[in-house]
Amino acid sequence: MDARDFFGYKNPDEEPGGPDPDDGSDSDRTPLFDEAVTLDDPATLRRIDPEDMLGKVAEMPRQLVQARRVAAPLEPDPKLSDVDAVIVLAMGGSAIGAELVAAAAGERLRVPLVVHRDYGLPAGAGERTLIVAASHSGETAETLSGFAVARQRGLPTVAITTGGRLAASATEGGVPVLRYQLGGQPRAAIGYGVGLVHELLSRLGLLREPDPIASAVSVTEDLLERLGPSVETDANPAKQLAWAIFGRTPIVYGHGPMSAVAHRWKTQFNENAKAWAAWEPMPEANHNAIEGSLNPRELGDAPYIVQVRDPDEPREIAERYRVVEELLGERATSRSTVWAEGATPLARVVSGVAYGDLVSVYLAILYQTDPTPVTLLAMLKERLARATGSDPTGA
Ligand code: F6R
Repeated sequence: MDARDFFGYKNPDEEPGGPDPDDGSDSDRTPLFDEAVTLDDPATLRRIDPEDMLGKVAEMPRQLVQARRVAAPLEPDPKLSDVDAVIVLAMGGSAIGAELVAAAAGERLRVPLVVHRDYGLPAGAGERTLIVAASHSGETAETLSGFAVARQRGLPTVAITTGGRLAASATEGGVPVLRYQLGGQPRAAIGYGVGLVHELLSRLGLLREPDPIASAVSVTEDLLERLGPSVETDANPAKQLAWAIFGRTPIVYGHGPMSAVAHRWKTQFNENAKAWAAWEPMPEANHNAIEGSLNPRELGDAPYIVQVRDPDEPREIAERYRVVEELLGERATSRSTVWAEGATPLARVVSGVAYGDLVSVYLAILYQTDPTPVTLLAMLKERLARATGSDPTGA
């Protein structure tokens, strides 16, 4: 198995994503509102989502449970736990898990955690830094490059992956590997992405009073049932939200733990719905984004604001949202608020992710776009590989 198994193309000579000459449809055009499909017909869902991304979203709770089992054999090791910082090397769907865990943990993290989304290592990485290299495929160029530097420098390192060159190189170098089994798209492995980082930090004692996984699992299972594909649009706020966003560009606001959730919503709108999307952390958005709603005037109705809020948010943040709501209302900006559910920060983060994942797949279906393949992402990796004469994964 290599990265091509995950990104939807097999033959390195064949660039994916070109128009199908036999496809007579006018696929460059967004379906008009009255051409839109229903989200309530199982046959339509199967036709547009043939690789069942909706089913993959529903696997998140099971992955969280499974992640505990994968991490269980990891023995406490002072070489890994006696550190002053954690740096997670990862990209895209493999990076957001650590960001979500850090956001949910807040001040319970004993040391700062930085997610490094680039080649090499960031400044400041040293002997007392735990390096966690996380790549679903184990083939991501940026992650492999930082991992190689960490190994050369002998830094305390752990790998999280399904295999690939990351697993091979870690095993060869005696680096502990949290290895899980899951084919398909990296972003659909989010239950592992969150669960494995959460368990790793907990087992190493770097996360104080970790939230129980079980409550995150049960609240997410419940939410997935209430908002899942078998619940008709009339009774399903996630389907209704996808309809509201249809034809507009979503901009997702979040504060504290919810800012990482908003980031995930943004990336899922990109990768599943193949749509532009933005994400704005609060309260920073009050110092810039709020002013950006005027021009171009013709596009005043183009954005759709989603405010993902935490019932436990601080009072001053609630007050800011109240004023933002007033201003957006005065300008008639299209918007919704989604409240995260659950008794713990981890439960609210995980269920908030599940909510956004569903909305993004419903939006893909409304656009009549298969949510699973990430064609441009694959093309980019392929073209980079051709340009550099390296492996088709871009490494
Ligand atoms: C694709 C996806 C991407 C990948 C990224 C890194 O579904 O989510 O964002 O996660 O290209 O690849 P991996 O995760 O294999 O290191």
